[in-house]
Amino acid sequence: MAADVYERVMDLARRRGFVWPTSEPYGAVAGFIDYGPLGAMMKRRIEETWRSFYVVREGFYEIECPTIGQEAIYVASGHVKGFSDKMVQCPHCSEYLRADHVVEGGGRCANAATLDEAALCRELQGLACPACGDIFGPVEVFGFSLMFQTSIGPGSQRTGYLRPETAQGIFTDFSRLLRFYRDKLPFGATQIGKSYRNEISPRQGMIRLREFTQAEAEIFVHPLKKAHPNFARYADYRMPLLAYPQQQAEAPAVEMSMAEAVSSGTVANEYVAYYLALTHEFLCRVGVSPGRLRFRQHLPDERAHYACDCWDAECFSGRFGWVETVGIADRTDYDLRAHAAHSGDAFTVFIQYPEPIRRSETRVVPRMGALGPRFRGQAKAVADAIAATDPTVAADSAGFTIEIDGAPLEIGPDLYDVREVEVEVQGEEVMPHVIEPSYGIDRILYAVLEHSYDEEPVEDGTRTVLRLAPPIAPIQVAVFPLMNRDGLGEVAVSIGDELKAAGVMAEYDDSGAIGRRYRRQDEIGTPFAVTVDYDTLEDGTVTLRDRDSMHQVRIPRASLAETCRMLCAGQAYFAELE
Ligand code: ATP
Ligand code: GLY
Repeated sequence: MAADVYERVMDLARRRGFVWPTSEPYGAVAGFIDYGPLGAMMKRRIEETWRSFYVVREGFYEIECPTIGQEAIYVASGHVKGFSDKMVQCPHCSEYLRADHVVEGGGRCANAATLDEAALCRELQGLACPACGDIFGPVEVFGFSLMFQTSIGPGSQRTGYLRPETAQGIFTDFSRLLRFYRDKLPFGATQIGKSYRNEISPRQGMIRLREFTQAEAEIFVHPLKKAHPNFARYADYRMPLLAYPQQQAEAPAVEMSMAEAVSSGTVANEYVAYYLALTHEFLCRVGVSPGRLRFRQHLPDERAHYACDCWDAECFSGRFGWVETVGIADRTDYDLRAHAAHSGDAFTVFIQYPEPIRRSETRVVPRMGALGPRFRGQAKAVADAIAATDPTVAADSAGFTIEIDGAPLEIGPDLYDVREVEVEVQGEEVMPHVIEPSYGIDRILYAVLEHSYDEEPVEDGTRTVLRLAPPIAPIQVAVFPLMNRDGLGEVAVSIGDELKAAGVMAEYDDSGAIGRRYRRQDEIGTPFAVTVDYDTLEDGTVTLRDRDSMHQVRIPRASLAETCRMLCAGQAYFAELE
């Protein structure tokens, strides 16, 4: 089933209302999708689970910034200049293609994104165009910006960009967030929302979209203190890591604990290791199969220019191979430094020392005896301006210029001394480093669909079943009357209402044979089904069926809603009822 699993999953997704091509009456546009009723519900549930980890447990409040940003943000972040992919146009069919993907697809190089344009041109020669199959001769490779550009307001005076990542909104809110968190490190903020990239050739369904949802956390830490305060939570958490040396040796991933990963230098620091483990736990919780999940370290020449260590959580797809779904990076102070340089704001945190320290510093010291008679009422302002002058400027020249009330004022060497003075220092301004876990929700949703998809032989043929984790399944409990007569339907409807009142997403269905109704729910991953029959009318019990085992138990109607609520929240298991 592996090779065509993508077709089967996407066929189910389209048929049953998970994912649809967008704007179909006008012809779908590559790189854009619609989530149908079940897909939108499932996506929300994945996002809610993400919030339960990052917002509720980690305490990183969520913010919401515009998806359109002014040009200055993306000039500072480096996206305007450098956020591009290398493109080639097929000389035979004129299709535009990502040059590195063609080279990788042709088996010439595993990591062609690291090649420059000349190397890509060489590697492309002799490969077949993935669109038309003709062979490339000499071709040109050029950069294509992935940023969608727009204009803000009438008259196109201001350039804007659709954000290519949610992260920049968090960086530009840094000072306000710092105040919100009472000026203390570490702190974090999160954002879930749309990002946009004008991908060159999005031919991979939900994997490569031009509009997609990211869930990102930006965690601001002291640059010299990268020991995570809660590292104990994951110190013994074991998972397979495909670090740089294993990739070089073409060796398999090595399973190790996070404590070992940090102490051996495999992972740069406790923060990165903590979020690797949290990501592993989260992905498994939402239904990524642990056997089809690996964590791969970026090679030094693959790493983004801003990162000092970077790992991708990759999910295996029968169609696409290993696909990056989450990136976890130590972005250092690259972003804050860039925004400080471009905006003029500080982007620093004042860290108070436990005790003030005394140290000797070179200072420009005004000669008050000379300033008083010369400047009279302005003497204090002149003295302050002299004291604030950079000692290197004052030491290098015979005098310097200051500004008083907007007017320049020449200060001669008779008005100051440059000397070592003893000062008391209360603390220091520090530019934090940023640890960033960045999740692509659409890719996670696709991986969960593919990893949950199963075809199982049963008595009357094959049943298709999505083995979705109960907290992620769009419909949580199906409610059926055995037959729609003798009042069974009415009882089933009122049981459905009781489930909804308990916060359980229940769906009533009375059409067709009961076996077909079970199959329909199996196919969309509904984990539990309740059947109302004649015994219900007599003794008040119902049948509760488990999707995966197809086992059934009878339980009293009175305890049904609470039982289902716990089963759906993952706080109880069906086997415990048997
Ligand atoms: P790729 O190499 O596959 O293009 P990337 O390295 O550009 O991915 P990042 O820039 O690290 O991806 O983005 C962070 C996350 O956002 C990714 O792990 C992925 O899940 C998601 N993402 C990025 N680009 C897309 C896209 N075009 N469609 C869907 N999700 C995406
Ligand atoms: N914020 C990381 C990324 O989107 O690349």
